[in-house]
Amino acid sequence: MTILRRALGRTDLTITPIGLGTWQFSQHAFASAGNWAVLSQEDINDIVQAALDGGVNWFDTAEIYGFGRSERALAQGLQHAQVTPGEVVIATKWWPIPRFAGSIRRSIDKRLRNLSPYPVDLHQVHWPFALSSIDAIMDAMADLVEAGKIRAVGVSNYNAEQMRRAHERLAKRGIPLASNQVKYNLLDRRIEENGVLEAAKELGVTLIAYSPLEMGLLTGKFHQNPALLAQRPRRRRKKLQARLEVTRPLIERMEELAEKYQASVSQVGLNWLIHAHGDLVVAIPGATKPSHAADAAATMRFTLLPAEIEELHTLARSLKDYKPISN
Ligand SMILES: NC(=O)c1ccc[n+]([C@@H]2O[C@H](COP(=O)([O-])OP(=O)(O)OC[C@H]3O[C@@H](n4cnc5c(N)ncnc54)[C@H](OP(=O)(O)O)[C@@H]3O)[C@@H](O)[C@H]2O)c1
Repeated sequence: MTILRRALGRTDLTITPIGLGTWQFSQHAFASAGNWAVLSQEDINDIVQAALDGGVNWFDTAEIYGFGRSERALAQGLQHAQVTPGEVVIATKWWPIPRFAGSIRRSIDKRLRNLSPYPVDLHQVHWPFALSSIDAIMDAMADLVEAGKIRAVGVSNYNAEQMRRAHERLAKRGIPLASNQVKYNLLDRRIEENGVLEAAKELGVTLIAYSPLEMGLLTGKFHQNPALLAQRPRRRRKKLQARLEVTRPLIERMEELAEKYQASVSQVGLNWLIHAHGDLVVAIPGATKPSHAADAAATMRFTLLPAEIEELHTLARSLKDYKPISN
C-alpha cells in the first residue's frame, strides 16, 4: 500500500502523516520523568524496525530526552535497520531553558554527532522559554540552515503570537517556519481555541501533534483493564487513573468504530487527528513496544468518514469535566 506523504510546512521535506516520537528512548529513569519504563537498545531497535516496516518515514527526538541518549539510540536503531542517511526524515530539538540563542550554534555539532550518520532535517525550539528573544533564536536557526547544518526550522509549544513572530523573522532570511509541535489529541483541544490552529493554517505551518494518545489514555487499554495501571510509573499512573471514568463514553464509541474498520481504539484516535484538518496536522505517537509502532503506522491504511470525524469531535468536546494531562 502506498502511503501519501505530506509537505512539512512550506519546505521540500515530505513526511508520512504518522511519525514516531522517541521520548520513550530516553534510557534513563529521570529523563522519562516518571512516565515511561526504561527501554533497552534491543527494544528500541525492534520499535524502530516496526515503525519502518509500517511505512513511517520520520522520527522525532530531542536534546533533552535522556540528555542525548534518545538521539543516539534512534541513530543506532536506524543503523540496525540498515537505513541509509537521507532515507528518512529526522527531527530533533534544542532545549532552551535557561539558555541564550548562541547555544543553538554551539550545540548543533553535538546533535549531529549523536544522530550520525543521519542529518538533522528539522531542528525545533523545544519551548518558548529561552533567555534570548524569538528574533535572536530564529536568527541562530537561520544561520544553521545557511551553513547547511539543518534543512528546516520548527518550534514547539509556541502560542499563536510567538509563531507569527518566528515566521516573520525567518521570512526575512527567505526561510519558512516549517512546524509547531504542540499537544493535541481528541481529549486536548486547546489549540482549537487559543488561535494556534488558525495561525498554522494561515501561515502554512504544519502542526505536529505530540501526546496524540493522551499518554496512552486514548488506547482504551486502561479502560478495558485498569489493572494495567499498577505496572505504570507512578506519575503517569496517577494522571491516567484520575481520567478513566470521565472519558469512558468516548472510548466506548471509539471501540465501535474500531470494530467497523477492523482497527484499534488508538488507530481511531490517531486517524481523527491526521484527517480532521486536511493535511495540516501530523502525529508522533510514542511506543514502548514494537506492536505500538506497528499499530500506529497501520492507521494510515484507512480514513474515517467526515461524519465520524465530526461525531468524535462533538462527543469528545461534550466531556465537560475533562482536564487535559500535562507532561
Ligand atoms: N514537544 C514537546 O514538548 C513534547 C512533549 C511530550 C511528548 N513529545 C513527543 O511526542 C511523543 C508522543 O507523546 P507521548 O509519549 O507523551 O504520548 P502518547 O504518544 O500519547 O502515548 C504513548 C504511550 O502510549 C502507550 N501506547 C502507544 N501505542 C499503544 C498501543 N497501540 N497500544 C497500547 N498502548 C500504546 C505506550 O505507553 P505504555 O506502554 O507505557 O502504556 C506509549 O509509550 C513523544 O515520544 C515525544 O517525541 C513532545
